[in-house]
Amino acid sequence: MKLTILGATGSIGASTVDVMLRHPDKFSAYALVGHQNSARMLILAKQLKPEYIIMTDEQAAKELVGKLPKGVRLEVGMQAAIEVSQASDVDMVMAAMVGSAGLPAALAAVRAGKRVGLANKECLVTAGRIFMTEAKRCGATVVPVDSEHAAVHQALLGHDHASITRIILTASGGPFRERDPKTLKNVTPKEAIAHPNWSMGAKISVDSATMMNKALELIEARWLFDMPAEKLSAIIHPQSIVHAMVEYRDGAVLAQLAEPDMRSPIAYALQEGTRLDAGIPWLDLAKTGRLDFQAVDETRFPAMRLVQDVMRGGDALAIALNAANEEANQAFRSGQLGFMEIVSTVEDVLQQTQDVAIASLDDVWACDQLARNTAHRVMG
Ligand SMILES: NC(=O)c1ccc[n+]([C@@H]2O[C@H](COP(=O)([O-])OP(=O)(O)OC[C@H]3O[C@@H](n4cnc5c(N)ncnc54)[C@H](OP(=O)(O)O)[C@@H]3O)[C@@H](O)[C@H]2O)c1
Repeated sequence: MKLTILGATGSIGASTVDVMLRHPDKFSAYALVGHQNSARMLILAKQLKPEYIIMTDEQAAKELVGKLPKGVRLEVGMQAAIEVSQASDVDMVMAAMVGSAGLPAALAAVRAGKRVGLANKECLVTAGRIFMTEAKRCGATVVPVDSEHAAVHQALLGHDHASITRIILTASGGPFRERDPKTLKNVTPKEAIAHPNWSMGAKISVDSATMMNKALELIEARWLFDMPAEKLSAIIHPQSIVHAMVEYRDGAVLAQLAEPDMRSPIAYALQEGTRLDAGIPWLDLAKTGRLDFQAVDETRFPAMRLVQDVMRGGDALAIALNAANEEANQAFRSGQLGFMEIVSTVEDVLQQTQDVAIASLDDVWACDQLARNTAHRVMG
């Protein structure tokens, strides 16, 4: 199977490469796409010897000129990323760029009818309706890579959609699940990025700390599994062993369990029929001892309150939630915004967002830009 990896230089990119290198007889790289991290890309180019290396950032591409292994072609820009996502030689595209910047190339893969491993949840949050409609129209297979959605995908196999009563995503609660709420305003980016169970990129780690990540995942689940908001919920599970549960009409609840390691859902997305060795530790429940669950506290995690209205509203609200969050998350990571202001900024932007109809990608980008502008006004 020939792969294009969008976001190859990131955390999901690294886990994908790890699984591929365990099965060199099954996988090869057609194209690796990164943004600014040319040093990491050089290592990957030597390991995987793909046909193409794409850096979406011009300066980063320049840093690679004359350094790539013989025969590896270097291209620059998002248009090049789109082309290697729809090329006829590609069997599967791993969509693992961060943020809504990942949408154009992932959508190009869908429109070319590819198998798409979807890590980039922001794609579905901003354009879920268009993305899934196009996948159906073009015969693309969208396989979730987010661990919770991969878990749901597995718990749904062989069951009929109408029998589902609830899909329950688990959430670790992040690093501040038990911290005194009065001290949350002093949280530093370093503290927020240090996730207790998962090793992830900076943006999603901060999203986990605010639980905006779970809010985005609920919207993602709505589109992936064609589920109304009433049937989607989240529960705190600090050990991150149970990744999701599906409840059926007869009261049966199917859960998927695994050690928290992204190579497991990535291997699941890459396999076609036969399960792959993902290199993750075996689950030892006797050693784990206990699995805890508790309701989400929406006062501590207001993102989980906001998402309830967003899921019941029109698509413009989800676009605004995502865009405002991307801007506020970035402002927090660069020291310009307090931790508690991330979600309050999103709430302010949502209050100023008109829930207009979204019919095309142009509408998506217009709404996205408006929300980013509003977020900057709110943040001052
Ligand atoms: N990490 C996880 O465990 C995990 C789990 C579930 C879902 N996800 C989702 O997977 C996606 C990637 O997460 P991650 O943790 O792997 O993030 P990450 O480590 O920060 O990597 C992000 C990747 O996107 C690229 N990128 C950043 N800005 C870009 C832009 N403007 N245009 C094009 N490419 C850009 C980066 O390139 P450079 O580094 O070269 O600049 C890098 O390759 C996110 O949507 C996240 O929510 C991640």
